[in-house]
Amino acid sequence: MAEKPALFLDGKRLYLRTLEVGDLDRARRWMNDPEVRRYLLCRVPIDEVSERTWFDGRNRGPFPTDIVLAIVLKRGHRHIGSTGIHQINWIDRHATTGAVIGEADCWNRGYGSEAKALVLRYCFETLGLHRVCSAVLATNGRSLAYLKKSGYREEGRFREHTFRDGGWIDEVRLSILADEWQALEKKKKR
Ligand SMILES: CC(C)(COP(=O)(O)OP(=O)(O)OC[C@H]1O[C@@H](n2cnc3c(N)ncnc32)[C@H](O)[C@@H]1OP(=O)(O)O)[C@@H](O)C(=O)NCCC(=O)NCCS
Repeated sequence: MAEKPALFLDGKRLYLRTLEVGDLDRARRWMNDPEVRRYLLCRVPIDEVSERTWFDGRNRGPFPTDIVLAIVLKRGHRHIGSTGIHQINWIDRHATTGAVIGEADCWNRGYGSEAKALVLRYCFETLGLHRVCSAVLATNGRSLAYLKKSGYREEGRFREHTFRDGGWIDEVRLSILADEWQALEKKKKR
């Protein structure tokens, strides 16, 4: 019988599990894919050594600064992306979230929103964070839409912050506070 996955957060159509060494080749394919990386802040190629150095170098103590999880569809246990809680500040209790669904046929199916709902619940109810932020290229309409749908509010723009495709692009900063998330949860239960 196949080994059960290291499920960490359980959703309806997907679950989030630990990211393992065996996932890195797939994740590296996504991060280098021109269709995917056009929306990401990283612009340089990611080779096996740099991927492994990032993976091994993460602070894994009881107060990590980064938590990264694999997004896996329940149907067929297909690993479709990664989601992360980065720059965790345990004193001021804020962090920055990010996600990549690397398989383009899985975009616009609500998987990103479902994964984000699991991550936000974990951030606010388990880690006790007060504020969760995100940074998105102004041209990434899908990412802005799913974050706003998840409860994030736009709080400002870094003007012409990023150079991409020969031109300057604004970076949009969004956040959601713990009490805003709780109010949304209350509304969903009504
Ligand atoms: C961004 C990402 C995580 C979102 O996940 P997803 O599963 O595709 O998103 P969802 O299906 O949950 O939600 C997408 C929403 O955006 C909307 N949308 C899609 N394209 C859009 C566009 N160009 N402009 C505005 N809205 C758009 C969809 O209609 C949907 O909203 P709805 O459910 O109200 O109809 C995923 O698409 C992805 O990883 N993309 C490539 C990498 C990336 O951009 N990462 C984020 C970097 S900040």
